[in-house]
Order: sequence, then C-alpha cells, then structure tokens
Amino acid sequence: MELKPFKRESVMPLPVAFISTKSKDGIRNIAPYGCVMPVLRPLDLICIATAKRRDTLDNIRDTGEFVVNLAGADFADKVIPTAKFIPSDQDEFEFAGLDEKGSKKISAPGIKGCYAWMECELFKLYEEASYILIMGKVVHLEVADEVYGEDGLCNVNKSRPLMMMGADNGMHFCTVEEIGKFEPFGAMFPEGNDPLAKMYKENNSA
Ligand SMILES: Cc1cc2nc3c(=O)[nH]c(=O)nc-3n(C[C@H](O)[C@H](O)[C@H](O)COP(=O)(O)O)c2cc1C
Repeated sequence: MELKPFKRESVMPLPVAFISTKSKDGIRNIAPYGCVMPVLRPLDLICIATAKRRDTLDNIRDTGEFVVNLAGADFADKVIPTAKFIPSDQDEFEFAGLDEKGSKKISAPGIKGCYAWMECELFKLYEEASYILIMGKVVHLEVADEVYGEDGLCNVNKSRPLMMMGADNGMHFCTVEEIGKFEPFGAMFPEGNDPLAKMYKENNSA
C-alpha cells in the first residue's frame, strides 16, 4: 500500500521523551516530544525538531537549558496532561501531577519516576520557515540503577521505554522488546574491531 509522504510516523515508532524546562521567570514546563534523536555515536549531541510556537522552545531560547526525560510505559497517562495547551505562566509539573528530580548541572529540573535523564545545554538552533531543530549538548546523563546493566545495556524489559505510532485519528502508545540477538559494534568493521571501543570502556560511567 502506498501512503502519503507525511505519514512517516505511521510506519516508524517514535520515542516519547518528556522535555522539561524553566522559563526565565522560573515557571516549570513539560512537553512530550517524539522527534528526538541522538547525533551519531559517540557524540554528546541530541537533536529535537520543534514547531515554532512552543513554550519549550521559548524557554530553551531564554535559558539555554532543558532536560530530556525518558519515561516508561507507565507514563502514558502523562502524555496528554503535558501536551495540552496551558498558559505559559502555569506550572506544568503541578498541572500534570508530576514531581521534580533536581538536576545536577543545570537549573531546569528533571521529572521524578523517569528511568533516564539527559541534562542539556543549548548548542545551536537551526531555523527553517516552519520548524526549528534544537541541538542540545548533553552535559549530564543519568540512568536509574535498577534498569542499567554492567555491560552498558539499559534493560528494556525493566525500563519499558514509552513510544508511539501515529495513526489516522491519533497516537497508539507502545514499548519495545528484546528479540534475543546481539552483534558487537566491531562486526561492522573489516578487522572486527570497534575504533570507539576504548572510549566506551573508559567513559561508561562518569
Ligand atoms: C506524543 C507526542 C509527541 C509530540 N512530539 C512533538 C515534537 O516532536 N515536536 C513538537 O514541536 N511538538 C510535539 N508534540 C506537541 C507538543 O508536545 C505540544 O504542542 C505541547 O503542548 C507543547 O508544549 P509547550 O508549549 O509547553 O512547549 C508532541 C505531542 C505528543 C502528544
């Protein structure tokens, strides 16, 4: 079946990341974002596609900071409360019934109960007519101990990352599962050695 090109997210699951920010007046804000991707291994940049009229964008422009909060499937009920339009002078942690997790390197707070937190500083904005790509530099990355293994794998059976698939009339929420197959990064290279292996060994936990 052929689909209209704009229906990309009907065939591609997206993460549902909750972006928390603070306005220049200190008002706390949360919004779910699906268009989020890391920029290449092993850089520390993350890219978020945003529409122009977002309190999230205004806050990031004003303060240069944001937290990408990764939540489990149990946060599905928090998507609409955080996605609803509410005036920018209203605290969205209170509105959505969420508690803050203090950040280590920035003043924007994270969200308690998520399984991982990326504290980010604004690196660059790529502005286009109808959207903006926000590039953030991850300055502090944290994961809940109970979902993270010594081999550097976040156990998806425990973290159950919240994801979504778009459909014609809305969003279906889902999560991911291990399929029981592993390949070393080195398998991509002629000698079987991952050129970045040393880095992972040295910098796995900060
Ligand atoms: C699951 C989901 C994913 C979303 N992803 C994005 C996105 O990637 N970019 C975007 O600009 N808006 C996205 N939105 C819409 C914003 O979350 C929504 O407009 C929100 O009210 C913005 O809040 P703010 O004005 O407080 O920043 C998404 C909404 C939902 C429900």
